[in-house]
Amino acid sequence: NATKMWSGRFGEPLNKRFEEWQRSFPFDWRLLPQEVAASKAHAHAIAAAGILDSTELQTMLEGLDRVLAEIELDGPKVVASAPEAEDIHHFTELQLTKFVGNLALKLHTGRSRNEQIATDMRLFVRDAIDATLEGLHHWISALVALAEQSGESVMPSYTHLQRAEPVLIAHWLLAYVSMLERDASRFRDARKRMNLCPLGSGAIAGATLALDRTIAARELGFDAPTPNSMDATSDRDFALEFTQAATVLGLHISRFAEELTLHATAEFGFLDLPEAFSTGSSAMPQKKNPDLTELIRGKSARLVGSATALAMLIKGLPLAYNKDLQEGQEPVFDAADTLAGMLSVLPDFTRALKFRADRMKTAADSGYLNAMAAATYLSNKGVPFRKAHEKIGNAVRFGLETGRELGQLTLDELKAFGDEFGEDFYASITLEATLDCHDVIGGTARNRVTEAVQAARARLEGI
Ligand code: ARG
Repeated sequence: NATKMWSGRFGEPLNKRFEEWQRSFPFDWRLLPQEVAASKAHAHAIAAAGILDSTELQTMLEGLDRVLAEIELDGPKVVASAPEAEDIHHFTELQLTKFVGNLALKLHTGRSRNEQIATDMRLFVRDAIDATLEGLHHWISALVALAEQSGESVMPSYTHLQRAEPVLIAHWLLAYVSMLERDASRFRDARKRMNLCPLGSGAIAGATLALDRTIAARELGFDAPTPNSMDATSDRDFALEFTQAATVLGLHISRFAEELTLHATAEFGFLDLPEAFSTGSSAMPQKKNPDLTELIRGKSARLVGSATALAMLIKGLPLAYNKDLQEGQEPVFDAADTLAGMLSVLPDFTRALKFRADRMKTAADSGYLNAMAAATYLSNKGVPFRKAHEKIGNAVRFGLETGRELGQLTLDELKAFGDEFGEDFYASITLEATLDCHDVIGGTARNRVTEAVQAARARLEGI
């Protein structure tokens, strides 16, 4: 037990199985960059408090840099190299001792692992948020570029998975851009709230040294020190919020993935899957499977799992630090890795998408998707909408019975459903007119979508 950070009061050694089982080093090794950064910040703070003289501070900082520089951040290797390390804090102290000797043992003056892990995790989550925002920027750029390229190409839109009205492909893509912009703002918002420094909170009640807490906070790029030591050492809201924002993003990504999976079926035939992002079947030679979108749909489930695990972990946890919190690390790592993986493939995949515009147009231009525009024509002629709806419904029924679209009915036939029909009816239900009658902010009229695409392009800089 003499190798432990806390052996003093213990006479008996740890049960071997318990010792191995309770270690966090097998997964928290990846916090080494954060642990070293936080330790350097703390070294500055205790030097300012007179615990280290300037030569000692210099030696300490150089030693900490070596700890990071001389380790290959390869999980299995790092973990195998230090079977005695209980966690990342213990590991760093052991390594630092190799480089600076007993001076290393001064580093823990005025600090506790409870504030360290709270700090390391905040730094980790902050980096993960920045990486997510970067990834979102790339993916949104690809979606906006695809919307620009799709010009005036159309597709059917669906409610209840039944064809509804024609929309521009760009309009559909911008729906996802809207979701992703809200996601980006959720991450930015969470980042603002979490950017406070726990260092100086001690084990629970605050450092026992008159530390200037603003020193470490500034060193680490935090906006300020956290205001309450009990909260700071046991708060994991920041991790929960990250996984929750990741969850919402994951739900959005999986909606996109599901739609593309559907579009790629022979039944829809809207999309020819890019070969570089599809796989074959070992059994059925003809297959080209949408593995990317399916895996995306599946991986989004892990994000929900991470957020749920963290929420359950925090629920009912008494103040302040409890060892349960150690279990909150892996869900955060998993969410960060899962998101990073998804966002690493989505931009290129999106750029490679080739819609079958002809089939989408045919699907948008048949099956009475102009019925709402037709009813609008009548209501513009003064027919109350409820009545107009009824008359067009009758015309649709007649069309279905005689195998024709609304535009293929003769004026005489139409007049049987209402004398308001005139020659101008046909021009009001063309594909273009059907799009353009939605001339409102957020509508699919061609001029509105052109504006919306331009506005999305302009907003890209801020994402
Ligand atoms: N490995 C621990 C964790 O992740 C570090 C904090 C340990 N603190 C303690 N009082 N045992 O939570």
